[in-house]
Amino acid sequence: MKIPLIDLRRENLPLLPEVFPKLKQLVKESRFVSGKEVKEFEEKFAEYCGVKYACAVNSGTSALILALKACGIGKGDEVITTPFTFIATVEAILWVGAKPVFVDIHPEYLTIDAGKIEDAITSKTRAIIPVHLYGEICDMEKIEEIARRYNLVVIEDAAQAHGAEFVKEGVRKKAGSMGKCGCFSFYPSKNLGGWGEGGMITTDDEEIYNTLLKLRDHGREERYFHTLVGGNFRMENYQALVLSTKLKYLDEWNRKRREKAEFYFQQLRGIKGLTLPFSPPYSKGVFYLYVIRTPFRDKLVEFLHTKGVEARRVYPIPLHLQKALGFLGYGEGDFPVSEKACYEGLALPLFPEIEKEEMEWVVES
Ligand SMILES: Cc1ncc(COP(=O)(O)O)c(C=O)c1O
Repeated sequence: MKIPLIDLRRENLPLLPEVFPKLKQLVKESRFVSGKEVKEFEEKFAEYCGVKYACAVNSGTSALILALKACGIGKGDEVITTPFTFIATVEAILWVGAKPVFVDIHPEYLTIDAGKIEDAITSKTRAIIPVHLYGEICDMEKIEEIARRYNLVVIEDAAQAHGAEFVKEGVRKKAGSMGKCGCFSFYPSKNLGGWGEGGMITTDDEEIYNTLLKLRDHGREERYFHTLVGGNFRMENYQALVLSTKLKYLDEWNRKRREKAEFYFQQLRGIKGLTLPFSPPYSKGVFYLYVIRTPFRDKLVEFLHTKGVEARRVYPIPLHLQKALGFLGYGEGDFPVSEKACYEGLALPLFPEIEKEEMEWVVES
């Protein structure tokens, strides 16, 4: 049996009848950018996340760059994050001229180890970017507390965590609603994925929101009147239309992801040599990926491939050991927990529409 890691056709094809007439209308009107569709999607997404404002952009990477810029972070500043994330988190820090400073991850939860953040803070530290990796929420209570004490800005990288929640003692907060800004990606494979590229910045801060609106549109106040140096980071109308339509189904898709993950948990628990994903007690995760760990990772991936199961090594090289980031001066052994996670992790097929028989095949393999 052939089991894909993720099958986007199963998510997108059933939506064609609902989306197509709306797209047709857009083309009839030939309105492609800066339209009411984008505003509507922003309002819906802000409401969904429980924040006042949302600014749609053309990718998750752009969202991170603009959020950092709007928070005034740039040359000479240091920004703390982990080496166990997609490279975009760090690229954004570098694009605004700041310096990424890495902190290792928690050995079970694989998100930034909040207990190690303080050791990395210097007089130049301005911000922390916690990454809600694989859809699990970081220890936001502790991170916010440190940020308050050192007067740092928190920018959530929620690119993999649409709909994930921080839950503690009756408090529920959605990913993207806890930091000064939340940054999302709508890359097609994400829990909320577009038909192309897209991103969003969420915030409760009106001033930052107004700056973001300008930055994404050439720093424009009005036509040919520019008060900031920005760029073209706009989301297209058709993309906003697609994403607005898909947002209605996000909670149901996330529920299905959790249900499917639970099946893997039940079936794989207790197998010697396998470490299953850990959810922190305060995280209601959304299983963007279901990543297991084993010291025999490469052999297991190869074996699963022979069985038709598309298992994938996720982030096989930690960012501090990536050639492109060598100039940061880190070396092997600097972040041992991240390194181990990179050498041991493999994602199993998981998406809302995956069938029980397919998961059974994965488990039996
Ligand atoms: C953690 C993380 N941050 C940022 C991004 C960047 O998003 P995009 O690919 O939309 O630019 C991604 C996307 O893969 C991601 O997984």
